[in-house]
Amino acid sequence: MLGKKIAHKVYAKKGIDYAFSEATMEKVKTIISHYPEGRQKSALLPVLHIAQEEFGGSLNVDIMDYVASILSIQPIEVYEVATFYTQFYLDTVGKYVIEICRTGPCAVCGGDDIQEYIEQKLNIKEGETTADGLFTLRAVECLGACGYAPVMQVNTEFYEFLTRDKIDTIIAELTAKANEDKPKESKWAERFC
Ligand code: FES
Repeated sequence: MLGKKIAHKVYAKKGIDYAFSEATMEKVKTIISHYPEGRQKSALLPVLHIAQEEFGGSLNVDIMDYVASILSIQPIEVYEVATFYTQFYLDTVGKYVIEICRTGPCAVCGGDDIQEYIEQKLNIKEGETTADGLFTLRAVECLGACGYAPVMQVNTEFYEFLTRDKIDTIIAELTAKANEDKPKESKWAERFC
């Protein structure tokens, strides 16, 4: 509709100044150095992962603008990538983001039942976060591990050949370690450096 104001969460600037820790910035510089001069945009995906991990588990426009400034690119170049990949979160998410595969091979191997079971167990629907802020459940497309269906990913970890019993164990283990300190090393930085 002409004249309709477009409001989108991506554009809701919070006015917060973000900055990587010194140690993380060193890792980010190392990642950027893997690419030729003037091609620092190629480091966008790893740097976004690191930013998401370092700044509380999700992205907002201030964080994306910060990443753009580090890579000397336009903010829109960051927005378009962050809004395309489901691995980047523009809403607040729980400490553990459960991404259950809903694509065909996983679905025929019981993925639907596993999703339903998680929803019942955590008392949330797909797209929601538990009241204690621990778990967010998202249904995503193929995770690239169809031979191990049904599959889910929790943050950076994969869980395969899921059954209801396995879900019980996984949720119990994650809940038990929820109060552990955040690892000092960035998982994403370690992967890319
Ligand atoms: S269909 Fe589930 S991992 Fe590919």
